[in-house]
Amino acid sequence: MLEINQVYQGDCLDVMKQLPDNFTDVTITSPPYNMGDRVKPWLQTYKVNNKDNRNKGEYFKWIKEVITELLRINRFHIFFNIQEVVGNNGVIQYIYQEFNPFIKEVFIWAKTNPPCHIVENQCSNGYEYIFCISKDNPNSKVFNHCNFKRKDYIRNVIIKGVHRDKHGHNYAFPEWLPEYFINYFTKKGDLIFDPMCGSGTTLYVAKTRGYRYLGIDISKEYVQIAQKRLSQETLLPLDVKQEGGKGIHPTSKEVGILPKFL
Ligand SMILES: C[S@@+](CC[C@H](N)C(=O)[O-])C[C@H]1O[C@@H](n2cnc3c(N)ncnc32)[C@H](O)[C@@H]1O
Repeated sequence: MLEINQVYQGDCLDVMKQLPDNFTDVTITSPPYNMGDRVKPWLQTYKVNNKDNRNKGEYFKWIKEVITELLRINRFHIFFNIQEVVGNNGVIQYIYQEFNPFIKEVFIWAKTNPPCHIVENQCSNGYEYIFCISKDNPNSKVFNHCNFKRKDYIRNVIIKGVHRDKHGHNYAFPEWLPEYFINYFTKKGDLIFDPMCGSGTTLYVAKTRGYRYLGIDISKEYVQIAQKRLSQETLLPLDVKQEGGKGIHPTSKEVGILPKFL
């Protein structure tokens, strides 16, 4: 049995098999996008064991297996961030079809500073999807497991930049991303899970907000980076520490919610 507040190295499908049903509460994750050799050499990040270059059918099958296993071990929401690129073209429609009853919400992350295009004469890809696939109240858009009220006016379009801290991972989440979902779509005491945690951004944000966490990555290097990040002393406002980390609601400015006039 795996211990919580740890990061494990391994293939997430293998490691997740060791977890019982409904063990984790909320997952926030992003898989490799099947970029293969199409990315610029300095952005080729998946250093070991994983070339991120599957045949498209195999990639879709893998995505289905991962989400199916996540639905088994996870009690509530799976926030699954993915971008459509040449190597996974059609994956958005595929996820919609395969997991339709469980798709509670689809968030669009509209980037204020999208990275430049990969090849000439191609649009810069300025948005990504974040599916909320959930066993909380299926076939409904209403969240039971959440931490906001109607007046909080949570939007499913998030306009925010790609501001990454430097932790040795080219495709790390900006910290605001797990923070947004942890703040609004969890409850105190939840176990936050990331089966492809890379440099551990989801786990780090969960830990600093006082949540339990569990992470997996296939790369030994990334697991070491995540472990180091999680071992660092973090400075939290005193009241958060005393309360056991309920988390602080960010302002609309901080989380990039659309201004009302839009
Ligand atoms: C988009 S990155 C995630 C980055 C992460 N959110 C962060 O903030 O650093 C995807 C990660 O999936 C990992 N990965 C790829 N295949 C995997 C597998 N089968 N099992 C576990 N991890 C995998 C890669 O090593 C990579 O770190």
